[in-house]
Amino acid sequence: MRAATEVIHTGEGRDDAANPLTTPIYETTTFIFENAEEVKAYNEGRSKKFLYSRYGNPTVVAVEKAIAALEGADAAMLLASGMAATSTALLGLLKAGDEVVCSAAIYGGTLHLLADLFPQWGLFARFATLDELREPERVITDRTRVLWFESPINPTLRCVDIARVAQACKARGVISILDSTFASPVNQRPIEMGIDIVMHSVTKYLNGHSDVTAGALAGSAALMKKLDRARKMLGSILDPQAAYAVGRGLKTLTVRVERQNASAMTVARWLEKESRVTAVYYPGLESHPDHALAKRQMRGFGGMVCVDVGGGQARAEGFFDRLKVFKRAASLGGVESLCSLPVLTSQWGHTDEQLAQAGVTRSMARLSVGLEDPQDLIEDLDQALNL
Ligand SMILES: Cc1ncc(COP(=O)(O)O)c(C=O)c1O
Repeated sequence: MRAATEVIHTGEGRDDAANPLTTPIYETTTFIFENAEEVKAYNEGRSKKFLYSRYGNPTVVAVEKAIAALEGADAAMLLASGMAATSTALLGLLKAGDEVVCSAAIYGGTLHLLADLFPQWGLFARFATLDELREPERVITDRTRVLWFESPINPTLRCVDIARVAQACKARGVISILDSTFASPVNQRPIEMGIDIVMHSVTKYLNGHSDVTAGALAGSAALMKKLDRARKMLGSILDPQAAYAVGRGLKTLTVRVERQNASAMTVARWLEKESRVTAVYYPGLESHPDHALAKRQMRGFGGMVCVDVGGGQARAEGFFDRLKVFKRAASLGGVESLCSLPVLTSQWGHTDEQLAQAGVTRSMARLSVGLEDPQDLIEDLDQALNL
């Protein structure tokens, strides 16, 4: 062969002497077939080969298997972001005229997708309050195809009875989908409680290092097959480089989350005794309105704590600006502790009435507890409260 050909093909392909411990990054858009028969076998579903990385990629599949195992699901799929997971799931399941019942206490991106974009395609959302979700059969109608909710919710960490919602959906043939991002699969296993599909913003705890944007869906083989078709058509799969990073993050998920659970509890207990704050919201505290439910359906209470420093937005902003160890940033679930003010992020632009409906005040701060020494976190909060 000539040099221009050799430079392209020499050294490429598998080296059978190198048997990697971890799944390498298959940084390839396409996969080679030996002959036409192999292509036919792939097309007819008789082959384990890969065809094209937008359809599937070995690095991505290895991480999907780990997520399925964590959730106790038949299968899982990785997507380019949490919102890619949400849009792919809903577009893959719904047709014009269908209705989604969605918790009103939901991530803002999900809310806007359902309220602003979906009506353009004849898809309708009905928003249900937490009170209504206590009797989920009452919010399901004949047109409902999907019920979408979160637990625990942002920022008050109120919880929804997951098994109760799952049961009501099953009885009416409605697909239940839980955004379990705040809990992570270490603290909450929704499939075991009867939920059909679990969704995660992998950007948060699953990746855990605040350096990758990704999403995941997990559920039965039949549902994942259907959504895999939608993902192919929508082109919403995760890139192999990013999938590799997620796979690496996942290996420490259990130890990270266990430590975050413990540190968040320590921080919440300290705040609870603190006279310079007016309220602390953490599902692990006996004072939390959903403590009993959280105890029943969660294995750990998570790394998110919400504190009301009182004194209105000015005092919350003063506290926020004084933090040194906690970084002022949106997002959550990483190794670095973060703080955000709901009134400037998730509840930005909300009226007093909307804030009251969400149980949010202007003096609340949301803490994502990371992996620092909890004593340093407490000392940081202590100095920031000296307003
Ligand atoms: C609960 C929840 N769901 C979904 C999302 C969206 O995920 P992503 O930003 O990865 O698209 C977020 C992001 O903040 C979230 O907090």
